[in-house]
Amino acid sequence: MKKIAILTTCVFAMFAVSSSFAQTVKKTTTVKKTTTVKKTAPAAGGKVSAATLEEGKQLLAKNDCLSCHKVDVKIVGPAYKDVAKKYPNTAVNVEKLTQKVIAGGSGNWGDVPMSAHPSVPPADVKKMVQYILSLK
Ligand code: HEC
Repeated sequence: MKKIAILTTCVFAMFAVSSSFAQTVKKTTTVKKTTTVKKTAPAAGGKVSAATLEEGKQLLAKNDCLSCHKVDVKIVGPAYKDVAKKYPNTAVNVEKLTQKVIAGGSGNWGDVPMSAHPSVPPADVKKMVQYILSLK
């Protein structure tokens, strides 16, 4: 009987040691994730013809954008010049913001959400975003 008790204690002790050991291993192997933001990304999104930019400008007026946005003053949404300051004019940012305008949502400028624009053709949204990011 005494043997069993000792054995049980032993097993418990081993379990305790191994689990704390496992925790230590887990802690020491945690890899710190670092994201490198490329500040000098190529302005691939900026290579757009003047005609496309003009089209983008007109599309902003044709859609509901200007009821919440102005070029240099914040209304409901951020001023387009502030958007252009925040995001360098790259292909990646053009794509990201195009998706955001289509899906709508909040979080990047505050808690007020932008309405979704699922019925605006993505190619049109892209032109509008290219125009916005060309504003400096
Ligand atoms: C109902 C008001 C409203 C309308 C209409 C609207 N927006 Fe917005 N927009 C916002 C708000 C609010 C934000 C800030 C969202 C955030 O905090 O992430 C925003 C953000 C943006 C941004 C920056 C997104 C980001 O994640 O930083 C772009 C670009 C933009 N709008 C373009 C447009 C375009 C183009 C249209 C028209 C197709 C449009 N908006 C229509 C309210 C609106």
